[in-house]
Amino acid sequence: MDIVILGSGRGSNANAILKAWKDGQLGKAQVKAVISDVPDAPILNIAKSYKVPARTIDINANTAKISVVDTNKLIDLTNEFKPKLIVLAGFMKILSHRFIQEYESRIINIHPSLLPSFKGLNAIKRAYERGVKISGCTVHWVSKGVDEGKIIAQLPVRIMDSDTLDSFTQKIHAAEHFLLPEVISQLSFAEN
Ligand code: GRF
Repeated sequence: MDIVILGSGRGSNANAILKAWKDGQLGKAQVKAVISDVPDAPILNIAKSYKVPARTIDINANTAKISVVDTNKLIDLTNEFKPKLIVLAGFMKILSHRFIQEYESRIINIHPSLLPSFKGLNAIKRAYERGVKISGCTVHWVSKGVDEGKIIAQLPVRIMDSDTLDSFTQKIHAAEHFLLPEVISQLSFAEN
């Protein structure tokens, strides 16, 4: 099962996937490329450190949603690697419906809350400030509605009274780094 990872930033989830892959924990999955919309994103250096092709897609940085022209560019670049699965690991653009249709049932996303709670941006901070006692992370299929696709797996994280936003954030990321590679591994075995 060939995988392409899309991300915009720090790349800690991409790192967790790549590490699990190199450690032989991703089943039949192979990471073929990491693509970023941000030219100097750390995620690209992480890919290079694992000797995985790291590519930048030149798309309009000023809009939240990917345009038609940029969708074509992204599809062309992604298709070079013929992925069976696309993993959104902190990809900060909203994908167009056409991109989602092109890879129907083949795109997954990691989100730092227990969906359907705290959809959208700044989910960790909003959960913390809301005072919930349990949050967590979710891996879900990507559908046309943002953070609304079918849930594949979730991992809960307790927020203790002693937690700061920082310590809670670290716990959420640790949960993500466990859950996302595990889901990919399971999907690779489920694939025909
Ligand atoms: C993660 O918290 C993920 O859930 C969200 O974006 C963040 C990406 O972090 N979608 P990183 O780039 O993987 O470190």
